[in-house]
Amino acid sequence: MYRDKGCGEIVESDIGKVLTLSGWVFRWRDHGGLIFIDLRDRSGIVQVVFSPDVSKEAHELAHTLRSEYVIKIKGEVRKRPEGTENPDIPTGDLEIYADTLEILSRADPLPFMIDEPKEISESLRLKHRYLDLRRPEMLGNLITRHRVTKQIRDYLDREGFLEIETPMLTKSTPEGARDYLVPSRVNPGHFYALPQSPQLFKQILMCSGIERYFQIVKCFRDEDLRADRQPEFTQVDLEMSFVEVDDVIATVEGMLAHVFKETLGVEIELPMQRLTYRDAMERFGTDKPDLRFGLELVEMEDLARQGSFKVFLSALDSGGRVKGLLGKGLAGLSRKEIDLLTEEAQSYGAKGLAWIKVKDGFESPITKFFPDGVLSEMADRLGAEQGDMMLFVADQEETTLDVLGRLRLSIAKRQGLIKDGFKFCWIVDYPLLEWDDEEGRFQAMHHPFTSPADEDIERMLKEDISDREGLASLKAKAYDIVLNGYEIGGGSIRIHRPDVQRKMFELLQISEEEARIKFGFLLDALRFGAPPHGGLALGLDRLVMIMVGAESIRDVIAFPKTQKAVCLLSGAPSPVEEKQLKELHIKLDIVE
Ligand code: AMO
Ligand code: AMP
Repeated sequence: MYRDKGCGEIVESDIGKVLTLSGWVFRWRDHGGLIFIDLRDRSGIVQVVFSPDVSKEAHELAHTLRSEYVIKIKGEVRKRPEGTENPDIPTGDLEIYADTLEILSRADPLPFMIDEPKEISESLRLKHRYLDLRRPEMLGNLITRHRVTKQIRDYLDREGFLEIETPMLTKSTPEGARDYLVPSRVNPGHFYALPQSPQLFKQILMCSGIERYFQIVKCFRDEDLRADRQPEFTQVDLEMSFVEVDDVIATVEGMLAHVFKETLGVEIELPMQRLTYRDAMERFGTDKPDLRFGLELVEMEDLARQGSFKVFLSALDSGGRVKGLLGKGLAGLSRKEIDLLTEEAQSYGAKGLAWIKVKDGFESPITKFFPDGVLSEMADRLGAEQGDMMLFVADQEETTLDVLGRLRLSIAKRQGLIKDGFKFCWIVDYPLLEWDDEEGRFQAMHHPFTSPADEDIERMLKEDISDREGLASLKAKAYDIVLNGYEIGGGSIRIHRPDVQRKMFELLQISEEEARIKFGFLLDALRFGAPPHGGLALGLDRLVMIMVGAESIRDVIAFPKTQKAVCLLSGAPSPVEEKQLKELHIKLDIVE
C-alpha cells in the first residue's frame, strides 16, 4: 500500500493517526537534529519531520534525500508547535513525524527547481515538460482545463447535444490556413489533410438529422504562430439545426455562464453585449476589442477640416480618415518618450503620430494649425483633462483604425488602466466578403459556407463579380465572441440552399470543378434535404488561458509546440527512415 490519503488532504481530525503517504520531496531542510521535508503529491503538500527520537533508521536515510526523490513514509500526524505554522498551505498547522522511510525512486540533479518561479526559460520548461507540469501553477492550469471541459460536456449533454467524432485523416477544410498533409501509402500520390476544423463534417451531420452536435476536438493549422496560436489546438465545436443567430448565441452564452460559475464561481451577466463589426472597428480599431477599459477612438474629421494641418488635410483629401485617441496621463512624456511612442505607431504602419499635450493649455508643434475652439472641442470629445495627451493618426481608413486600436491597448497596459474581470462581447453583422488585394479577388470573411443576411440573399444571387462595392456591402450571418481582447470563438448560420452555395463559390471565383473536387460531398448533401443550420467553435485553449490568467496558450496545453512548431520534449518533427519514405512514394528534394 502506498498511501492512506493525499498529502494535501490531511486535516485536523487526522491528528494522532498513523498515516502512510507517498510523493515527491519538494523542499528539504536539514537542521542537524531534525530533517524537514515538504512532501508533495497532486493533492498538495505536507511537512514531514524525521527525528532520531522517532526512528534512527529513517532519520539516517533521510539525510540522503534530494529534491524530487519519490518516497513513501509512515508516521504520526501531529499539530505543529505554536509559531511554526505555515499559513500559506492548507496543511500548514500539521506535520507528520515519520517512523519509516522508503525511497521509491531517485532523481538526478534537476535542470531547474520545481519551486522556482517563472524565471526558468520556456525552452527548458518545454524540454523537461514532466518537471514543468509538476509545478503547482501548471497543475492548476490542467485541473481548470479539465473542469472546463467537464462542465461543457455536462451543459451540452443537458441541452440535447450529441458528442460525435469526425475524421482526422480527411480532406482540406477552408479555414484560411495551410493544411498539414498526410501521405497515403495505399494510394500513391494521394494525401489526407488533417482537419483545420470539423466544419464540413458537422454540416453533414446536420444533413443527417443529428440536430445538435458537439465535439471537443483537435484542429490543425499550419500558420504563423504566436502566443495565442498553436499548430494543433482544441475547439469546442458545435452545430445546431433549425436555428437562427440568436439561438446559437443564447446557447453559447448559457454554456459560458455555466462554465464560469461552476469552475471559477464567477457570475457572467447575460445577455452579453453585442457590437456590430462596423462599430467595433470605429470605436476600438479591431473586431476583438478589450472592453475592460475605455479610451475609445474618436472621430476627428470635421475638426481636422477646420484647421490647416497639411498631414490631416491631405489624408482626408485622399479618402483617408483622421481619428483621435486619449493618451491618459501621458502629458508628462519627454520628447524622447514621444519619439518612442511615434516609432511604436510607425511599427504598426502609421506614417507618424500627431500629439497635443493638455497642460495649462495645449502644448504641441501642431497647435498653431488649429483655432483654440477646435483644440477645446478635440479635448472635449476625447475627454482629455489636465495631464493627458491627445493622439491622432491620419491615414487610409484601415491603417488609421488598426494603428489607433493597437496604441489603445498598449497605452492602457502602460498606464495600468486594464481592470480585472471578464468582459465578453459578440461581434455581429460581419461583411460576407473581404477583398484580397494580393489575389485580386474576394475571400469569404468567415468561410464559404456562411449565409448572407436574409435581406441580402436576393441581391447576392443577382450580383456580378465586377461590382466590388455591391459585394463588399453584403452582410453575413456571422458572429465572433470576444473575451478581454481575444477572439475566443466564431461561427455563423450556414448556407443550406444549393443555389446560394453555388453563387457563393462563383463570387469567390471557385470554379464548379474545383468546388466539386474540394467540397463535392457537402454540395451533394445540400441537395437531399438540408435543414437550416448554424453553429460556432470556441478556442478552448484561449478560453482556459484567460480563465487562469496565463500569458500564453502554451501554459494551458500539456505538450505544446514552440513558435517554430517544434515539440521540444519529443523532438518532433524529425527526419524519417528512407524505407518509410519509399513506402509512401516520396522523394525528398530539400532546397537549403
Ligand atoms: P475559427 O477559424 O474562427 O472558426 O476558429 C474558432 C476558434 O478557434 C480558435 N483558434 C485557435 N486557437 C489556437 N491556435 C490556433 N491556431 C487557432 N485558430 C483558431 C479561436 C477561434 O475563434 N469552423 C469554424 C467555426 C464555425 O463556423 O462554426 C472555425 O473553425 O479562438
Ligand atoms: P511632419 O509634418 O512630418 O513634421 O509631422 C508633424 C507631426 O505630425 C509629427 O508629430 C508627426 O509624427 C505627425 N504625423 C506625420 N504623419 C502623420 C500621420 N499620417 N498621422 C498623424 N500624425 C502624423
